Amino acid sequence: MGYRKEILIPKELIRKRVKEIAEKIRMDYEGKELVLVGILKGCVFFLADLAREIPLSIKIDFLRVASYGSEMVPGKANLTKDVEIPLNGKHVIIVEDIVDTGQTLNYVKEIIKNKGAESVKTCVLIDKLERREKEVELDYCAFKVEKGFLVGYGLDYNEENRCLPDIYILKEE
Ligand code: IMP
Ligand code: MG
Repeated sequence: MGYRKEILIPKELIRKRVKEIAEKIRMDYEGKELVLVGILKGCVFFLADLAREIPLSIKIDFLRVASYGSEMVPGKANLTKDVEIPLNGKHVIIVEDIVDTGQTLNYVKEIIKNKGAESVKTCVLIDKLERREKEVELDYCAFKVEKGFLVGYGLDYNEENRCLPDIYILKEE
């Protein structure tokens, strides 16, 4: 038994939504010191495309958390790579590929708040609704899906399919 990929969101549509979100961010952060903090590795293409569409002098940084597991408790334990830019007094937008249970984004938001950021917002490529456990406010969101496992445009399945330009849903065959 294997999986086949079915296209769900073509790259043209991704590009359109990225531009729309970038424009919202530009209006919201004009004149402010903005740092985009991406959660590795799923965020890379989304963050790279988004950052280049925002005509402000923004900074970018990244952190990494150990993926999937039990309840994440804010602290160092699940953080495998920290940000390097001091975030004290900065306006931060956390950039994530997909929100599923909400554990990861909640955890990262706590970490960033604890670094003394002036404001912390979230920007996600995909809001996947079915399995949400932790409420987390999504300030900017490109797409909503009900359920399913997605790959492409940064999203992987065991490190496979991450670099595809479109987003696919995996279907059992
Ligand atoms: P959460 O902590 O349950 O919200 O999980 C978020 C993380 O799980 C994301 O950063 C992804 O790495 C991974 N993930 C959840 N759903 C998918 C999916 O459909 N495709 C690829 N990765 C996923
Ligand atoms: Mg991820």
